[in-house]
Amino acid sequence: MSHAGMPHRPRLLIARRIFPEVLERLRTHFELRVNEADAAWSADELIAALQDCDAVFVTTGERIDAALLAACPRLRAVCSMAVGYNNIDLEACTRAGVLVSNAPDVLTETTADLGFALMLAAARRMSEAERWLRRGEWQRWSVEQFCGQDVHGATLGILGMGRIGQAIARRGALGFGMRVIYHNRSRLPAAQEAPLGARWVSKLELLREADHLVLVLPYSPASHHAVGAAELAQMKPGATLTNIARGGIVDDAALAEALRGGRITAAGLDVFEGEPALHPALLELPNVVLTPHIGSASRPTRLAMANLAADNLIAAFTGGPPPTALNPQVLPLR
Ligand code: DGY
Repeated sequence: MSHAGMPHRPRLLIARRIFPEVLERLRTHFELRVNEADAAWSADELIAALQDCDAVFVTTGERIDAALLAACPRLRAVCSMAVGYNNIDLEACTRAGVLVSNAPDVLTETTADLGFALMLAAARRMSEAERWLRRGEWQRWSVEQFCGQDVHGATLGILGMGRIGQAIARRGALGFGMRVIYHNRSRLPAAQEAPLGARWVSKLELLREADHLVLVLPYSPASHHAVGAAELAQMKPGATLTNIARGGIVDDAALAEALRGGRITAAGLDVFEGEPALHPALLELPNVVLTPHIGSASRPTRLAMANLAADNLIAAFTGGPPPTALNPQVLPLR
């Protein structure tokens, strides 16, 4: 049953500014409260804004934990437009009977594009060369100027072989003739490995053999600093590291040290520990390409992500199955 036109529509907080067309869809079902200023709220500000709300539309930044749930007893659904949900305590939500959904699939190809672009840019020293050119330092062409690493034909190592990892593997194997190795908790079925020529290896083998290592695993306490000084020490000196997964998976201080000392040759980073703050050493290094968490940032993809969060919200409150619920066992909503 739709809530459209009913006197007591559920109250929905939109925690960040989103596309007007998605707001309009939601407005027919919910009474909306919107963070018009698009401020990154503190935990207390989020709790204050959520008072008397039945549901919240979140992104990657809003922390939903047991303390927030206790302070917002009316909350029944947390729907995120991101695929990663390390900002949401799923177990606490399930215990409290609060539905959680994320937004998988719709961002896979766009995020893989950015991962590939960062890997190419790092390997071919593109940011470094552009900064040098913009400073007016280009006087003449010379043979060894900005010589980097080849990507085509090199060994692509992927840590975390979910949907985005596989999309990167496809680009590498089919577009750039790369040899693909990967490490993941579970091995892909042979029918998925075969067309990519992808080979499951131990994490140590992955670190030692990859010319270009791309991190695409979800963040959890278990993956905190999955790549730190010890892991970087295993990598080839000419290797590059690309992180499009989450800050905290790489020990950024150790990475800066490895890049400064030539332990590895370059890095492409879209996510950072403690973002939007960055480890200051990363900003100083020439051999790192930095982007501000824009993996999924194409307009069609961000719109699809927001619409998927809206689909989940609308379904949760109108009795339909939310398409990408993470804890459907809490349904129907209390
Ligand atoms: C996600 O969806 O988890 C991304 O990091 C946001 O682009």
